[in-house]
Amino acid sequence: MATQRNVIIFGATGDVGSAAALQAYQEGAKVSLAVRDPKKPIPRLSGIQFDKVPADLTKPETVEAAVRQTGATVAFIYVVGDGNMRPSLQALKAGGIKSIVFLSSFTIEDDIRAVPSTDFIAFRHAQVEIALEEVFGNENFVAIRPAYFSSNSLNFKEGILRGETELPNPVAEFDWISPADVGRVSGMILAHGSKENVIGLVGPEKLALKDAMSVIGDVLGKSINVIKIGEAKALKQMSDAGIPLPVANWMLDNAIRNPGASFRAPGYLEALGNVHKYTGKAPANFRQWMEENRDRFKA
Ligand SMILES: NC(=O)c1ccc[n+]([C@@H]2O[C@H](COP(=O)([O-])OP(=O)(O)OC[C@H]3O[C@@H](n4cnc5c(N)ncnc54)[C@H](OP(=O)(O)O)[C@@H]3O)[C@@H](O)[C@H]2O)c1
Repeated sequence: MATQRNVIIFGATGDVGSAAALQAYQEGAKVSLAVRDPKKPIPRLSGIQFDKVPADLTKPETVEAAVRQTGATVAFIYVVGDGNMRPSLQALKAGGIKSIVFLSSFTIEDDIRAVPSTDFIAFRHAQVEIALEEVFGNENFVAIRPAYFSSNSLNFKEGILRGETELPNPVAEFDWISPADVGRVSGMILAHGSKENVIGLVGPEKLALKDAMSVIGDVLGKSINVIKIGEAKALKQMSDAGIPLPVANWMLDNAIRNPGASFRAPGYLEALGNVHKYTGKAPANFRQWMEENRDRFKA
């Protein structure tokens, strides 16, 4: 019988982190949750008594203390902060972590050292992958690289509630992967390990933004009018919604200048099969995600 893995989940309140924790637990791992606010509820994990330890991934001393307290040797982490997270990675190692599952991004298409800093999302995740290689070694971390989350539709919530969304390119197509599927794959790897150290994940369909709005309207039982707007207006709206400028620019790149990039990426076909390969279950499509998450669209 394989030895039980002792796992610590950073970002356990998140969509991916909570699903990763649940899957690893169901697969027999000992799971502890590292959280910034121990009082914050985690609905997906209610009913299970997980040990919780306080930690903030931008504060290395809290990271090392959390790992020591749990005795964990395997960790799940997110990108946080602006840099490559090296001090926190070193703190994970000093605390006793031997291997890491890192939530990265499918926007990294090639060599992690060749990603230009202008490719904001890919660059940010690639910098952490480089630091992981240097601190833990190539064999000791797995980068989970998902494409476009279904939960990105929540960025349009205000317009959806008004019954009118303004989009710069309504026909741009995305794959709409469910963050819970990303978490389930992560949880399987936390519990059992993986021979591969980069795992691309894409959702099961190509669905245009305007068609995603129809699905949302259908599930919520309301009509949502889609209006095409110009780039400048889209940028202002994102900035008003608190989306940082580099992220907003990247989103516009995805939507207007380079739509459908993930479908043309070299690892697309392999990534399409990976949710099933790692979990044994078909990935959720956008409608299924929407049905499970309809309450998040309430005012
Ligand atoms: N959106 C996409 O299309 C997409 C595509 C590919 C990859 N990704 C990756 O997925 C991430 C989002 O995942 P998600 O949907 O699961 O996010 P989420 O639901 O917003 O959860 C984010 C988690 O990060 C935690 N966190 C934030 N700052 C932290 C810190 N300083 N220390 C420790 N934990 C911290 C949050 O904890 P609190 O509860 O304490 O705030 C929360 O648990 C993105 O940031 C990106 O790296 C996203």
